[in-house]
Amino acid sequence: MDTKIDQKIIALAGGTGRLGSLIAEAVLAQPDTQLRLLVRPASRSKIAHLEAKGAQVVEGELGANAAESAAGALAAFTAGATTVVSAVQGGPDVIIDGQTALLRAARDAGVRRFIPSDYTLDLFKLPPGQILPSDWRRQFAETADAERGEAEVVSVLSGGFLDRGVLFDWLRLIDPDTQTAYLWGDGEATVEYTTYADTARYTAAAALDDTPIGRVLPVAGDRLDFHGLVAAFEKASGKRLRVEQLGSLTDLDDRIAELMARDPQNVFGYFPLMYNRGLLKGEATLPPLRNDRYPWIQPTTVEQYFGAEKL
Ligand SMILES: NC(=O)c1ccc[n+]([C@@H]2O[C@H](COP(=O)([O-])OP(=O)(O)OC[C@H]3O[C@@H](n4cnc5c(N)ncnc54)[C@H](OP(=O)(O)O)[C@@H]3O)[C@@H](O)[C@H]2O)c1
Repeated sequence: MDTKIDQKIIALAGGTGRLGSLIAEAVLAQPDTQLRLLVRPASRSKIAHLEAKGAQVVEGELGANAAESAAGALAAFTAGATTVVSAVQGGPDVIIDGQTALLRAARDAGVRRFIPSDYTLDLFKLPPGQILPSDWRRQFAETADAERGEAEVVSVLSGGFLDRGVLFDWLRLIDPDTQTAYLWGDGEATVEYTTYADTARYTAAAALDDTPIGRVLPVAGDRLDFHGLVAAFEKASGKRLRVEQLGSLTDLDDRIAELMARDPQNVFGYFPLMYNRGLLKGEATLPPLRNDRYPWIQPTTVEQYFGAEKL
């Protein structure tokens, strides 16, 4: 692979994904930087535009389906890299096993920093079982802290994604069509929200940062409670929302337990409720924000986001 001397190499896994493609663009926008992507062969056509802009591609996969040649692919992917960034999505085989193999390859290649695919609430504060995908990420973090060698592992924590697909479709906190907001509990816990694009910008900045960052990088576009979210929607859209009370937070715990017991394989039945629980209980709010480490990033607030969406 052709890389100029003095260029930083940012090796990104998950660059075909929603967040990963934005991280890729943010890295490509930086001078003296080479972007390298780990891409599953069948997905390569998704990043043709990034290859056209100069991104290097290593074909490979993380996790249980990874081929015999996986170690070689990860060695080629991490060789000479400054930072390895993961923006993959998946089950424990990808998040724990796949990322562990990637971290080991990064460590063995002398990579300076590893950014795992976290980008969420403060998962380190969450009690076990509250949000299962956060449990996998915490399990990976424990392994990473033991196996990182000289590599700095930095979790970018940016709260809930400020995105209509997440808030309206996945979490169903608000249904703009029926002009209804759905609430469990009193809605008074504050929590952070950040757009995909701002999370990607902070991640690229962290990947290129020349000085140690620390174990977590908490950043966010806004911090408000459920009622603040509703108020921001109403102000930006000029439409009133009817708040439908679905039950208490104990009722929400019971509902999740019931869905898990009835059909544990159907994670899409209860994962969104688990994330709702994370947002509405307020147990995993971020530590003091460090937005000011990268002052050139002016993150979008909730009201600005809803305003731009023309709801
Ligand atoms: N805080 C929030 O509210 C929030 C909301 C959404 C997402 N997130 C987090 O953001 C991160 C990225 O999510 P996303 O929405 O961008 O996900 P996404 O669009 O589903 O993209 C997932 C990426 O992972 C890759 N991938 C999946 N399995 C892989 C494997 N075995 N080996 C290699 N690559 C694999 C996919 O590649 P292919 O193209 O080959 O499938 C794709 O590039 C995740 O950590 C997610 O939890 C946070």
